[in-house]
Amino acid sequence: MSFPKNFYWGGATAANQIEGAYNVDGRGLARTDVTTAGSLHQNRQVTYKFKDGRTGKGSFIPSDATGAVLPGEYYPNQEAIDFYHHYKEDIKLFAEMGFKMFRMSISWSRIFPTGEEDKPNQAGLDFYRKVFEELHKYNIEPLVTISHSDDPLAMEEKYHDWGNRKVIDLYAKFAETLFKEYKGLVHYWLTFNEINSTVMFMHFGGHQASDEEYQHAYQKLHYQFVASAKAVQIGHQIDPDNQIGCMICGIATYPLTPDPKDILLNEHTWERDIYYCGDVQCKGKYPTFAHRLWDKHHVKLDITDEDREILKNGTVDMYTFSYYMSSAVTTHKDQEEVGGNLSTGARNPYLNYSEWEWADDPDGLQYYLEKMYDRYELPMMIVENGLGAIDKIDADGKIHDDYRIQYLKEHIEAMDRAIQNGVDLRGYTTWGCIDLVSAGTGQMSKRYGFIYVDRDDQGHGTMKRMKKDSFDWYRKVIKSNGEEL
Ligand code: BG6
Repeated sequence: MSFPKNFYWGGATAANQIEGAYNVDGRGLARTDVTTAGSLHQNRQVTYKFKDGRTGKGSFIPSDATGAVLPGEYYPNQEAIDFYHHYKEDIKLFAEMGFKMFRMSISWSRIFPTGEEDKPNQAGLDFYRKVFEELHKYNIEPLVTISHSDDPLAMEEKYHDWGNRKVIDLYAKFAETLFKEYKGLVHYWLTFNEINSTVMFMHFGGHQASDEEYQHAYQKLHYQFVASAKAVQIGHQIDPDNQIGCMICGIATYPLTPDPKDILLNEHTWERDIYYCGDVQCKGKYPTFAHRLWDKHHVKLDITDEDREILKNGTVDMYTFSYYMSSAVTTHKDQEEVGGNLSTGARNPYLNYSEWEWADDPDGLQYYLEKMYDRYELPMMIVENGLGAIDKIDADGKIHDDYRIQYLKEHIEAMDRAIQNGVDLRGYTTWGCIDLVSAGTGQMSKRYGFIYVDRDDQGHGTMKRMKKDSFDWYRKVIKSNGEEL
């Protein structure tokens, strides 16, 4: 195996999917706190209230309503797995596996409850300081996502989900606060989780988005690009040792047939879904094809010369991405569709699919790594990868998750091949190293962890932690630096 000596093996999480404690110590609400549970065939919904007291739920909060916690509804993220009160126990388990890195995010509304306060919430800052100190006790390097799907709800509503330039400064203030506060404790940062998911959502599940929706999506992304580039500059000023990365939802896409029309469609899918964001964040400017994408939907960007300058001077230090699956596209209409992880495509006959219709494709990971390294020549990290599956406690009281071991083993082998082919891969943090609330479905039963958490889809359970078979397996993988799979 070719893994470098200081390779960062570890696991990944997000605040809203693990912390719980949604209304303690001054934390403000986030959209996930008013989002119900769903399943593969039932979308999650947000609950809201109008000024006159009427309530409702749906896929979005109407502009004349505000997100609200309603009686009788179940909101899985509110308690999640209560990492807020279990972090010491959980980090100890990560250390037992030999983690070198732990990816986590900061709940924005724990630090700035509405996003607009002048002063940060001290209790929120203290919580993360304690978590970072605990990680360092075991020589685990934190990798911190500044924004992972939990903007303060008040800010989201007031500024229409990044529909206003003002949010750039609110984000910059948030990022600056973190860089200053955790200087010396955190060296690795990601500005936005899966920033490209905004464009992917536009056509997920066959949705035909309107030009107005595209206008909002591309404008939101532009403000986020500027915010990210500002954060990179601030982070470097505060501590030149800071390594700051982009984070892209990495789905390798293939043409389903050799029909040249499919080849072209595939190339354009890469441009729209993957390169668009990566190019701006890694190269500091919009690619030529951006004009084609905007013109198609009559998008007119609010972009200034100052923005362009900020983008140019705020390129990221590393390219990080999530990888779970590949997808196939075709112009031929008669294909069976499958949709997983923000991507809808044709069923690929050469691959197997998980219960949630995600294509199992380790070769796609090698392909993605080599393609992206060739494009940007930046150090890379895979900051999410894993198999969401239903785990059962067997008669012997144990969880034999050999399917998860097999999935991870094959993806680690793919990483090894990419490294041998010259890719500068620095780290691998598997997703949901401890069971957590699924972002897509809100289920607990879609489990990714090496550590089982006793909690079900209705919120029952003791929260007790339990090692699965994959726990010992991953410990050996880390100990042998990827030699023993
Ligand atoms: C990524 C997200 O898209 O996929 C995570 O960054 C998410 O937040 C992960 O949990 C897995 O998706 P899901 O829907 O299975 O939780």
